[in-house]
Amino acid sequence: MAADMEDIVRLAKARGFIFPSAEIYGGFRSTYDYGPLGVNMLRNVKNAWWRSMVQLRHDVVGLDAAILSSPRIWAASGHLENFTDPLVDCRNCQERWRADHLEPAPDGALHCPKCESTDLTEARAFNLMFKTFAGPLDDESNAAYLRPETAQGHFVNFSNVLRTSRKRPPFGIAQVGKSFRNEITPGNFVFRTREFEQMELEYFVPPDEAAKWFDYWCKERFEWYVELGIPRGMLRLRPHEKEELSHYSAGTSDVEFLFPWGWGELEGIANRTDYDLKAHSAASGEKLEYFDQASGDRYTPYVIEPAAGATRTMMAFLLAAYDTDEVAGEKRTVLRLDPRLAPYQVAVLPLSRKDTLVPVAQEVLRLLQPIAMCDYDETQAIGRRYRRQDEIGTPLCVTVDFESLEDHAVTLRDRDSTVQVRVPIDRVVDEVRSRLGA
Ligand code: GAP
Repeated sequence: MAADMEDIVRLAKARGFIFPSAEIYGGFRSTYDYGPLGVNMLRNVKNAWWRSMVQLRHDVVGLDAAILSSPRIWAASGHLENFTDPLVDCRNCQERWRADHLEPAPDGALHCPKCESTDLTEARAFNLMFKTFAGPLDDESNAAYLRPETAQGHFVNFSNVLRTSRKRPPFGIAQVGKSFRNEITPGNFVFRTREFEQMELEYFVPPDEAAKWFDYWCKERFEWYVELGIPRGMLRLRPHEKEELSHYSAGTSDVEFLFPWGWGELEGIANRTDYDLKAHSAASGEKLEYFDQASGDRYTPYVIEPAAGATRTMMAFLLAAYDTDEVAGEKRTVLRLDPRLAPYQVAVLPLSRKDTLVPVAQEVLRLLQPIAMCDYDETQAIGRRYRRQDEIGTPLCVTVDFESLEDHAVTLRDRDSTVQVRVPIDRVVDEVRSRLGA
């Protein structure tokens, strides 16, 4: 069962996934903090991406470039000039909107979604980059920008990576990190925020292979979401219309997810051609090319870019995993998260706080911690503790009870089926490992 937004926002806050930022000061403009569960899950999303894009491949290497770097990057890349959204003001209520997000009414006119007035200003280009000043003087010579995409770090380091990694096209550079955009209308929880995390691959290919690799990455990236548990029916691949394309793109397809309000982008796969490498070559005077010693060919590679949002994707995983069912006549909420994404893979639960059980439970905890992220909880009745773990998506609970003192075994409970089996303590690590597929 797919959740609606209220379910997820409530669960995220109540259980410690995502909190509104600066809540004690009334919050701050659609910014969010990731709590004890959220930080685990977001890390798992990023690790799953890194594993698939870097660890399991021989043709991709990683990078962690600076967020704050030379403003010349953004002049050369075209972002200073073109990274804009069309902004309109409502003259009646003074609210600001993105013109391309307003639905025209049946009379064809654009209406303010807040007060319904049609008295809107002409759209003007609003640059989304956050400007700041590097150094003590806030004058134009010290102007700098927070990066609006992690990409560009990949392009300006192209020669460094090529030289040190000894790769040749087709090869890729992967990066995960924060990006910042001064969005006109952030919203829908963490779907559109001003500070967010991206997971981006720039895959450099011989120009005549660009079409082939574009198709390859569209398929590959679509399947990544399916493999991690999003039902195919909640995903689609949508090619961009010509007028939607970014200033650098010769073709883009989005992997979209069926959010409660409709289809929305999780990831864009773009053919950036040789736009960026050529732009930085021209602006810096450094040749950003590949020289093929075998054939004697020198060329500027084309770039296929699968660019995903980590924070947005985490929300999609939460929405897709949310379910309710009945266990022993009682309604429960369960997050059917893939174990690789769940904030905790195992919860160790002593049946009671009695002195005799706690040391055994903590010994079991110490056995499991090296192979899984574990929660440990000795409060409340066991049934309530199971419900709490179901609600946060923990795939396995390990319960230490009074029998454990006699038979040196524990009860292993499965989140989805709720089936419980008895496992000897000296086999619990192997059993958990095999169930988690770890
Ligand atoms: N380098 C290409 C690029 O940045 P994009 O489509 O603008 O492409 C890639 O961004 C992904 O980053 C999006 O598919 C989305 O998941 C995420 N993203 C973009 N803007 C975002 C925002 N304001 N809040 C949260 N995620 C965002």
